[in-house]
Amino acid sequence: TTMLWNDRLVKKEEIKLSIEDRGYQFGDGVYEVIKVYNGSMFTVTEHIDRFYESAEKINIVIPYTKDVLHKMVYDLIEANEIVNGYVYFQITRGSSPRAHAFPQPTTEPVFIAYTMKGERSIENFEKGVKAKFVEDIRWLRCDIKSLNLLGNVLAKEAAQQAGCYEAIQHRGEIVTEGSSSNMYGIKDGVLYTHPTNNLILHGITRRVIMSLCEEIGLSVIEEAFTTEQAIDMDEFFMSSTSSEITPIIQIDDSIIGNGKPGEWTRKLQAAFDARVQ
Ligand code: PDD
Repeated sequence: TTMLWNDRLVKKEEIKLSIEDRGYQFGDGVYEVIKVYNGSMFTVTEHIDRFYESAEKINIVIPYTKDVLHKMVYDLIEANEIVNGYVYFQITRGSSPRAHAFPQPTTEPVFIAYTMKGERSIENFEKGVKAKFVEDIRWLRCDIKSLNLLGNVLAKEAAQQAGCYEAIQHRGEIVTEGSSSNMYGIKDGVLYTHPTNNLILHGITRRVIMSLCEEIGLSVIEEAFTTEQAIDMDEFFMSSTSSEITPIIQIDDSIIGNGKPGEWTRKLQAAFDARVQ
């Protein structure tokens, strides 16, 4: 398989990464995941924009223009003949003798990208999944798509240990987001979701969903809700690049609605399908 190592398309075996790469030692970098449907990247501009924004927030200067990066990633998908799947890319602050503070300004960031094949999780979309409440122990800059994912990793692991597909993180009473997804509840025909601030990632799928709500006539209130309100919702779902719109039919021991994907959720899924087909 072909991968991108900085601006070069190379075989996986050719890539040499330093043990002093700051991504490896400090999680000092940012990343993106883009879904490929029928050979084309969905919401690619939004993902690339967010990549530059995340990098800028931690003072990493990406050494390519957005157009060049777009072309590099496009060529990678072509090289690997990806029809349905993903492209993952990350940039780190580069390699330098281990010290917390930023390295010399001459240190070059290290960019890596590779593709994965994968089909959509139709069964989850149709049947829905279970989720588990997990305390959100992450830092206060969850708006940055950082390689530091320890809080997210521990949350997902706790959920999976409990036989659940995803964690629903909460800071005290307030539901924030999933371990790698955004969360939504629908009550009396109104969709509630956490506002986009420093406590959650501003999901690209979330942005698509905001526009789909307008399209199908579902009112939206971007206000945080509590765990207690969450289990009392008529419908509940999560969103991300990979899980798209996945209904949540049970949280811990509480069944949501009638335990089946809700009407509004299914309308949103249908509207989403129309955009990716
Ligand atoms: N996860 N919140 C968190 C913490 C995430 O990691 C993600 C994405 C999302 C949803 O964002 P988007 O709709 O832009 O994918 C929300 C990616 C897919 C991952 O880590 O694999």
